Amino acid sequence: MATQTEKTFEIPPSLKKPIASLRDHFLLLSRRGKKTNRLVGIASVRGGEGTTTIAANLALSLSKFRDAKILLVDANLTNPTLHKIFKIPQSPGLVEGMEKGQYKIYSISPSLSLLPAGKPTPDYIPPYETQDFLKGLNNFKTLNTFILFDISPLLAGGDGLRLLAALDTSLLVVGAEKTTLDDALHVKEAILRAGTNITGIVTNQVISRLGNLC
Ligand SMILES: Nc1ncnc2c1ncn2[C@@H]1O[C@H](COP(=O)(O)OP(=O)(O)O)[C@@H](O)[C@H]1O
Ligand SMILES: [Mg+2]
Repeated sequence: MATQTEKTFEIPPSLKKPIASLRDHFLLLSRRGKKTNRLVGIASVRGGEGTTTIAANLALSLSKFRDAKILLVDANLTNPTLHKIFKIPQSPGLVEGMEKGQYKIYSISPSLSLLPAGKPTPDYIPPYETQDFLKGLNNFKTLNTFILFDISPLLAGGDGLRLLAALDTSLLVVGAEKTTLDDALHVKEAILRAGTNITGIVTNQVISRLGNLC
């Protein structure tokens, strides 16, 4: 049962244009009738590259499109932050869902819902049954045009690849000043080996940091 929250959230003006292009990319994918492209992992090489920012704002943007229903999942079990952004409890969430089948989905707006991360133990690795839990979420596909997953940084290994392997496709976020080409290529190979395709690569430049240089 979804719980309704009261606050409304807006996309920051500086992100409206790039997020609208990304939204159109995904709407185009769905218009081609590819039901297999609906479970999307937003992934990165390291922390701080903008994964959560892009996942949250892309979910908001897609949810405003007519008839869309979006489920956003905080699958960053190393450093979950979506519950803070959308001001909902952290748990029960994905971890408790995978471990005990107990989780709660919050309604952020009539067309956007959020499954928080839950409370992972340090160095938590999702169980093999993860695939079954995510297949269960897959049943939401009839209601949710897209299910977007905010994934942990992939370079360190751990929970990110395990979750990503269960999804249809991924969007790789690369922080312009943060990641070397070698690391990005290494992570790209790891995603493809996990059996998930990459639908696009976003180069994200943290404008506030550039501002500091001026
Ligand atoms: N395009 C951007 N413009 C301005 N600030 C950004 C942008 N992308 C990310 N940030 C900021 O950078 C910080 C890290 O972003 P975040 O999305 O939390 O990264 P990650 O989830 O990859 O660790 C946050 O404070 C966020 O607000
Ligand atoms: Mg994050």
